Amino acid sequence: MTNKRSKRTHAVHGGTRRSQYGEVSEAIFMTQGFVYETAEAAEARFISAGDDEFIYARYGNPTVAMFEDRIALIEGAEDAFATASGMAAVSGALTSMLKAGDHVVSSSALFGSCHYVLDEVLRRFGVEVTFVDGTDLDQWRAALRPDTAAVFFESVSNPALEVVDIRAVCGLAHAVGAMVVVDNVFASPVYSDAIAQGADVVVYSATKHIDGQGRALGGVVLGTRDFIRNTLEPYMKHTGGSMSPFNAWIMLKGLETLELRVRAQTDSALAVTRAVQGHPALARALYPGHESHPQFDLCRAQMGKGGTVLSLDLKGGKKAAFAFVNALEIAVISNNLGDAKTIVTHPATTTHQRLPEDQRMKLGITPGLVRVSMGIEDTDDLVGDILQALDAV
Ligand SMILES: Cc1ncc(COP(=O)(O)O)c(C=O)c1O
Repeated sequence: MTNKRSKRTHAVHGGTRRSQYGEVSEAIFMTQGFVYETAEAAEARFISAGDDEFIYARYGNPTVAMFEDRIALIEGAEDAFATASGMAAVSGALTSMLKAGDHVVSSSALFGSCHYVLDEVLRRFGVEVTFVDGTDLDQWRAALRPDTAAVFFESVSNPALEVVDIRAVCGLAHAVGAMVVVDNVFASPVYSDAIAQGADVVVYSATKHIDGQGRALGGVVLGTRDFIRNTLEPYMKHTGGSMSPFNAWIMLKGLETLELRVRAQTDSALAVTRAVQGHPALARALYPGHESHPQFDLCRAQMGKGGTVLSLDLKGGKKAAFAFVNALEIAVISNNLGDAKTIVTHPATTTHQRLPEDQRMKLGITPGLVRVSMGIEDTDDLVGDILQALDAV
């Protein structure tokens, strides 16, 4: 399909491969392997497999290929590789491109597992890692060196919702020859223009908005054909982090409704942020799509909209945060985001529990902070639920 179509059209049709039955809904090729007509055909395929020739599901599978091609079209990337989870995508992208002795610069505002990969795994294998405040371009400038091989950041940080300037950081990183890997989960493919803004590699946890219905884990790495096929694929297919065909089918169907869901969730996130302004129980309401956010202009220029997640910081600390969360009637308490159901998370005691307290405070993960991932329920119902729970505090 031509690249000129809009994301929404690619999300429905991109990458489709029909079997001899001409099915409307994409087929699940629930097979680990493929039969060869002859021994010679098997030998030929192992020497060089063509675009639609498959060998083993750890290497590739028709349903997985449909998902990869569809999301590459949506993202405007040359190619994609689907992974078993978002963390398989983050760790695969970084470990496939790095070697002992390399230097990496990363923003410090990271999801707990991303922090573990950068701070523990890479360091254990002899990679030097420098952490910076991702919102401070002077810190990026000071940390980048001629031997910096890669730069990593979450374009909108989890859960403090700080926005990193993709275009500016890519400019600085490329000046020293470093590859830029962007974890773009909070932007979602709907509000992403990361490749056009200079990112070399974009990763998503498909578990979030792409599935969007809480069913399956998945991830994806997007980039140039050369990087995906010659650097990432050999690493992933031999280390085993590939996506299962069944999960690829879930993600493929998730992509079809992605934009409709994410735009509705974003509208509700803005409506809630507006409704809670000045509430006496709140110290701050953080939402990059609201003019009260310090990086509102950057967010608007980079993503267009503020995304599906906001964070509420309650004045009364952990006690007030727990009281608020427990008083909610529609929103559920869990730790995913981007779901059709509104989900609240208390990061300090769950997703970011492993960070030492001083580090959490530095990243704005206060005891009163509650992350709210807006679902697709009725906006007025959600505003009402959040206001009544704040009033209960
Ligand atoms: C920013 C970010 N990156 C990566 C991940 C990891 O994704 P997964 O849980 O699919 O491995 C998450 C999950 O919460 C996340 O929020």
